[in-house]
Amino acid sequence: MRIRDIDLGEKPVVLAPMEDVTDQAFRVLCKEFGASMVYSEFVSADALIRNVGRQFEKMRVDDSERPVAIQIYGRDVPTMVEAAKIVESEAHPDILDINFGCPVKKIAGKGAGSGMLRSPELLLEITSEVVKAVNIPVTVKTRLGWDVPTMYDASATIPGAPKGRPFIVELAERLQDCGISALTIHGRTRSQMYQGEADWTLIGEVKNNPNMHIPIIGNGDICTGEDVENAFYKYGVDAVMIGRATFGQPWLFRDVRSYLDTGKHDDSMTLDWKMDVLKDQVRKSVAYSLREDNELKERKRTELGGIIHVRRHLANCPLFKGIPDFRQTRIKILRAETQEELFTLLDEAKEKIISHL
Ligand SMILES: Cc1cc2nc3c(=O)[nH]c(=O)nc-3n(C[C@H](O)[C@H](O)[C@H](O)COP(=O)(O)O)c2cc1C
Repeated sequence: MRIRDIDLGEKPVVLAPMEDVTDQAFRVLCKEFGASMVYSEFVSADALIRNVGRQFEKMRVDDSERPVAIQIYGRDVPTMVEAAKIVESEAHPDILDINFGCPVKKIAGKGAGSGMLRSPELLLEITSEVVKAVNIPVTVKTRLGWDVPTMYDASATIPGAPKGRPFIVELAERLQDCGISALTIHGRTRSQMYQGEADWTLIGEVKNNPNMHIPIIGNGDICTGEDVENAFYKYGVDAVMIGRATFGQPWLFRDVRSYLDTGKHDDSMTLDWKMDVLKDQVRKSVAYSLREDNELKERKRTELGGIIHVRRHLANCPLFKGIPDFRQTRIKILRAETQEELFTLLDEAKEKIISHL
């Protein structure tokens, strides 16, 4: 599958953009273990053009991550165009992705992220102006709609849309007309947030619309190689995106790849190996945080900065689920402040897992 001239190979499986999760250390590992493409955490267009916060830090990419997409969000044309140009010229990603899906109140409530689904005309204007402003491919990630009624009837919110047509089917066609190079759809509406099951039927409907020619990336509730295979087979999507299931297990991509290529899971990844991967993630996270030219400077350019990034992964690592008496160890992992402390705790955790086997 190709996004313009970027070849993602057969049956691509990509890492979803996730705030506070898909930092560089995690992305590098996911890529190493077979993710076909990785996305940055989202970057606020507004903060980027005003040069505030850690936006530049979020945009750092390493060649080993490529192809890599940087995602931006915002709610007005000039800011988004300016931010897109900065991303292209400063960070040099392979792809610029626009977020029209974030459901969080402080973003969607202000009209950005999925809030844009309530203003499709502005959404489309932003998209076409951003496409015109940069040379790299522009992609969009969105949801099925704002809520259930708009999800089903595009004519309610998109001028000129045929009555009764699903919102996302109409929106996808219009986004394609704006010149985007691929579209990712998370199979939920904004009002669903992360509740209920993702509806892949509508993702399939977009994909099977004969007017659609750009790649469609399906997203929502994918956890295993079987889920990925099913998404390709049943809904015909061009690529599958995985989000939450990757927490604490960047090696998931290796297992999924094995399943897609051979029909078998990868049993060669031992507990020792996985624990070493987690340590490597800690090491990388700390090293990136301590970088000399880190924009965070005095504020957070510390070992602790790197540890904070990796905590969420460790707390959610599937290896630690169902281990008796693990609560105290988990709390200690979440409170550790140095790499050395964390390594000792990870060794302790390994012993607990072994004694449970
Ligand atoms: C902690 C967290 C942070 C997220 N941050 C972003 C983000 O920055 N940009 C974005 O497009 N989606 C974001 N998402 C949504 C995911 O990319 C994905 O669409 C969603 O989790 C559904 O996929 P999943 O069921 O595989 O997790 C986030 C989700 C989570 C759980």
